[in-house]
Amino acid sequence: MGLKGKDFLSIHDLTVDEIYQILDFTKVLKAKQKAGEPHQLLKGKTLGMIFQKASTRTRVSFEVGMWQLGGMALFLSSNDLQIGRGEPVKDTARVLSRYLDGIMIRTFSHLEVEELAEYANIPVINALTDLLHPCQAMADIFTAIEHKGEDLKGRKLCYIGDGNNMVNSLLHICAKVGMDISVATPQNYAPDAVIVEQAAAIAKTSGSKITILDDPYAAAKDADVLYTDVWASMGREGEQAIRKQAFAGFQINSSIMQVARKDALVMHCLPAHRGEEITDDVIEGPNSVVFDEAENRLHVQKAIMALLMAD
Ligand code: CP
Ligand code: NVA
Repeated sequence: MGLKGKDFLSIHDLTVDEIYQILDFTKVLKAKQKAGEPHQLLKGKTLGMIFQKASTRTRVSFEVGMWQLGGMALFLSSNDLQIGRGEPVKDTARVLSRYLDGIMIRTFSHLEVEELAEYANIPVINALTDLLHPCQAMADIFTAIEHKGEDLKGRKLCYIGDGNNMVNSLLHICAKVGMDISVATPQNYAPDAVIVEQAAAIAKTSGSKITILDDPYAAAKDADVLYTDVWASMGREGEQAIRKQAFAGFQINSSIMQVARKDALVMHCLPAHRGEEITDDVIEGPNSVVFDEAENRLHVQKAIMALLMAD
């Protein structure tokens, strides 16, 4: 029982109780940090942070979070690791397990993270793959709860844009907590079919309503949260021009805000491309909570690390 010693690879792997355990503990740790109360739950522990892709929020929030918990984080760029020169993931996993208490990884292939977790005997945390971004989705739901209250049942999150890692993790978490989710993407950019099936299966018990559309206005109707992310994720930079054409109209702007609820939260995992997936006036407007989401990455990841790694 409990999360101790487990990996954090996908929200799909978590029970609803485990999700709320993380969210509740996030609240406790956030309050302690704001009050200046010590909470050194990982004193003497170390976290290795493998990055095969760029990052601002993830790197800084994990590193600072580990420090605040009394531990230490090591930034391990794949450019400098032997893994970048072909050392097998399974060997890297076993070597790092001899030194560290936990591994955080941001990479391309989700299978690589699963292999790392299989061979490591310490917790592995997924800090973004091409398939999933579970830490971000946890921070987003925590932010939604802060602004809209504990019970998200009957509330609706609308995601407009690319059917990418971000929406995949949002599908998982909305289905788990019983929040409705409507997704609008261009037809060739729909979310992963297996993830949609998984979410639909979970929704049968939680009561969440899942809708996949190609009409942003229909998806945004009466939404409590409007969410978007970049049209071209890391690794897709070469498709930027073609995606700009395909995604025209899949933008959060003042016009789409009219069909959502008046008090709808505007969310974006960041970094944002103003004028593409979101307009400057909306991301800077009164409904935007994008910097709360970014801050909550710190608090939610501290909760995850403490629950997985503390003695
Ligand atoms: N949202 C997010 O993961 O940001 P970074 O890419 O800056 O880590
Ligand atoms: N979907 C984006 C998220 C960045 C935090 C990407 O993968 O690049």
